[in-house]
Amino acid sequence: MKKLLLAITATSLMTLGSAQAASAEAGKSAYSTCVGCHGAAGEGGVGPALAGRDTAEIADLLKKYRAGEQVGPMTSMMAPMAANLSDADIENIAAYTASL
Ligand code: HEC
Repeated sequence: MKKLLLAITATSLMTLGSAQAASAEAGKSAYSTCVGCHGAAGEGGVGPALAGRDTAEIADLLKKYRAGEQVGPMTSMMAPMAANLSDADIENIAAYTASL
């Protein structure tokens, strides 16, 4: 019985951990809609390069676009892309692009 309880506790802790930590793996699928403009490897294209950049900086920029703030001269192209991202999406995408 004790062993079973321990196993249950360990499993729920692991589930909690993965739900809270930013996940580059989840970010990869969320990033699929960004590939056309930022490149499959985040090398840039229509939009700036995102590969290897600071996670906090990328998350901050995405939150600005989502909030409708003017960031650069082509904000109107980028803002709709960020409009429906959740905080978790943003953290995950930033973790993913930093890993590229
Ligand atoms: C239709 C093309 C397009 C798509 C699709 C797109 N972006 Fe962008 N993105 C841009 C452009 C253009 C800019 C520069 C906008 C500006 O001048 O502020 C930009 C800027 C950014 C920036 C700020 C970079 C910097 O150095 O200022 C980030 C971060 C970003 N995009 C992330 C994303 C993510 C994440 C997605 C997918 C959810 C995405 N973009 C989808 C075109 C796009």
